[in-house]
Amino acid sequence: MKTPTPVNAQTRRIREKLSRCEPLATSRRRILGQIVLCEGCCCGRTDKGFKPVPRDWIKQQWKDEKLNKSVQLTISGCLGPCDLANVVCVVSPKGMKWFGGLQERWQYGLLLDWAKASRDAGVLLELPAELNRYRFERFAVGCGSAAAPYSPPPVEPAEPPARIAAASSGST
Ligand code: FES
Repeated sequence: MKTPTPVNAQTRRIREKLSRCEPLATSRRRILGQIVLCEGCCCGRTDKGFKPVPRDWIKQQWKDEKLNKSVQLTISGCLGPCDLANVVCVVSPKGMKWFGGLQERWQYGLLLDWAKASRDAGVLLELPAELNRYRFERFAVGCGSAAAPYSPPPVEPAEPPARIAAASSGST
């Protein structure tokens, strides 16, 4: 006879709420948003020729700035659209915004600056316009029709914004 797996107090609490049809609420709901950096089977895999994800650097920045209380940083496994590695997804109450083809540390630096500014403002600010050229639509929309590709406004070739270039110690 199979022994039931013991469950912890949290799991019991959730079960009880569900059994009473009570709404679930997370104690982390005060967070403004979340950035998910993919580091899966392609993104960040330098052994496959992809640019690295500056995981240690950005995690340290998040920790030093205590950003997780405002904008959560998550390093994930494959998010799906490997053909656009390196991929980042920004999740907010307004939905998800997807970015692909990130190859340089300054691009991640823009996300860091945005997260800090959003924390300081107490609201999620507009994402940096410099990242628009990396945006893409992740999912099909409508009845079986493919999503139209995201069309960012025309921008100059990718270069780190001056404020990032000055602060950055080089690309990864
Ligand atoms: S490994 Fe990043 S999308 Fe698949």
